[in-house]
Amino acid sequence: MRKPIIAGNWKMNNTAAQGVALVNELKPLVADAECDVVVCVPFTDIPAVSEALKGSNIALGAQNVHFAEKGAYTGEISAAMLKEYGVKYVIIGHSERRQYFGETNETVNKRMHAALAAGLIPIVCVGESLEERETGKTEQVLSVQIEEGLKGLEDVSAIVIAYEPVWAIGTGKTATAEQANETIGFIRKKCAEVFCPKCAEKVRIQYGGSMNAKNCKELMAMPEIDGGLIGGASLKAQDFSQIVHYNK
Ligand code: PGA
Repeated sequence: MRKPIIAGNWKMNNTAAQGVALVNELKPLVADAECDVVVCVPFTDIPAVSEALKGSNIALGAQNVHFAEKGAYTGEISAAMLKEYGVKYVIIGHSERRQYFGETNETVNKRMHAALAAGLIPIVCVGESLEERETGKTEQVLSVQIEEGLKGLEDVSAIVIAYEPVWAIGTGKTATAEQANETIGFIRKKCAEVFCPKCAEKVRIQYGGSMNAKNCKELMAMPEIDGGLIGGASLKAQDFSQIVHYNK
């Protein structure tokens, strides 16, 4: 059985002080969680939030990582820098990175391998745009993102995949539970083909895109959906806690 994983993606929200206040509110609310709970915070929040999370069941995540060990990469952060603060997960290839910062399947692939080599668990994001969905290209786009983005992976279950239809992110439009389940089922099938059927059965695939306290139960009840990557609703402790307790 795959253990569900609910991860908050704070994006560019919360200063370190605000982040500490948020996780201090969150800790008691999710202490009884049956799933893995993660918060992916801005780089500058990492030291303080890491300290605040000590002894809790909430794991720390970052929102990006560079592929080089070190060197002349102004503005970037290495895997070792994240590891030093106890970061466990790192989001890679979020659609906002692909859309606004020139991230490609090739750079996603390099970042993923660097993260794994350092012992971080990548949360690799894939997903189609509205135009791609409407013109019937969803499976084609996802196939390329998997083939190129995850190239060279020995065991796909070493990562977490987040299926985030771009048209559902921050828009209040959620994929229907059936749509999300069907597409995640396709991603799993593709992973079985490209990697191996056994590891495709094991890999955790999250849904992301306007998941909230109201719709999480229905989405999480779907057999293919193993968790959520939550943007907006992860910024409020009560809302995020309700998602963590999706089955209550
Ligand atoms: P959202 O963001 O929940 O605000 O739609 C999800 C994400 O981009 O990871």
